[in-house]
Amino acid sequence: MNANLGAMNDGREPHPVARVIPVGGGKGGVGKTFVVANLAARLAHDGYRVAAVDGDLEGANLHTCLGVPRPRCSLADFVAEREDDIAKLLLETPIENLQLIAATASNLATPQPSHARRVRLVRALRRIPADFVFVDLGAGTHPAVMDYFMIGEDGVVVIAPEPTSVENAYAFLRAAFYRRLRLAMVSHDVRTVVTLAMDERNERGIRTPVDLLREIQAIDSSEGARFVETMRAFRPRIIVNEVRTAEDIKLGFSVRSVCRKYFGIDAEYLGYINHDEAARRSVRARRPIVAAHPRSDASIYIARIARKLLVPRPSAPSTAQLGARMTPGAP
Ligand SMILES: Nc1ncnc2c1ncn2[C@@H]1O[C@H](COP(=O)(O)OP(=O)(O)O)[C@@H](O)[C@H]1O
Ligand SMILES: [Mg+2]
Repeated sequence: MNANLGAMNDGREPHPVARVIPVGGGKGGVGKTFVVANLAARLAHDGYRVAAVDGDLEGANLHTCLGVPRPRCSLADFVAEREDDIAKLLLETPIENLQLIAATASNLATPQPSHARRVRLVRALRRIPADFVFVDLGAGTHPAVMDYFMIGEDGVVVIAPEPTSVENAYAFLRAAFYRRLRLAMVSHDVRTVVTLAMDERNERGIRTPVDLLREIQAIDSSEGARFVETMRAFRPRIIVNEVRTAEDIKLGFSVRSVCRKYFGIDAEYLGYINHDEAARRSVRARRPIVAAHPRSDASIYIARIARKLLVPRPSAPSTAQLGARMTPGAP
């Protein structure tokens, strides 16, 4: 697996747009940073040009996992508008082909970036000269986190097999789903209804996406079609981390089927990574596990997921298929 997407470009054409893969999950401590550091390191090792971006301005630690002790610049410089060229924030890491944009030195007094700034950031991320750009998102469902999660269709949700993580993953997917819808809808009245539906206990009785679709269609049928189209394009991917039992592995399938039934969206179960003591050792050694312990179980599962990322995704299901699939009920 030594093909290098970057090498295919001989310099005469502008670099193709990077594949941006945001990694979120709602909950802290489930392994988002671990997944980003290791998928990035794995693909870099295979010869791809990779950038790992720490999008967690409040809990930056991707630099530590990658062995960059004191980053001299950070995404905070972009957010605070001290630096407009995101490529200037790229730092070398000890791993060949892997660069980092850290998130250290954020000013707690600086508010979250404005929506306009976030749009700029999303555009800038796509132009990073790399084959893959991973973005490590912070915990929670702040609109800024959701905007980064929607950068591409390749957003990954990391889930740990425990009820709190599963609960937060659904909250995260729900937030991503509604934010995406609200941005896609054009009519003022329809956007108002979507905003209303975002409140789980809204007085209009909209409890599920099916209820919402019905409401939207009654207002404007072309917006109804746009609604279904937006869902069709939303295909998050799931990784279950810290798996210990066969039951834990199945979690990815059940989240997938809830996504289908409840949201009518086609999530993909990208794979799982088992619980491995070598993971903690590698974090303490400030090296990705795939570099420090390449033969460990976790490294083998990470390599398997990395290979899946190389395969182009099958095309999204047709609008009719999706519409037919949605059934009422809450997750
Ligand atoms: N597969 C795993 N096996 C064992 N420990 C893990 C695994 N994945 C992550 N960890 C441990 O969990 C800690 C928290 O992971 P981290 O990636 O920082 O979570 P998050 O970014 O979601 O807050 C890591 O420091 C690491 O020690
Ligand atoms: Mg983290």
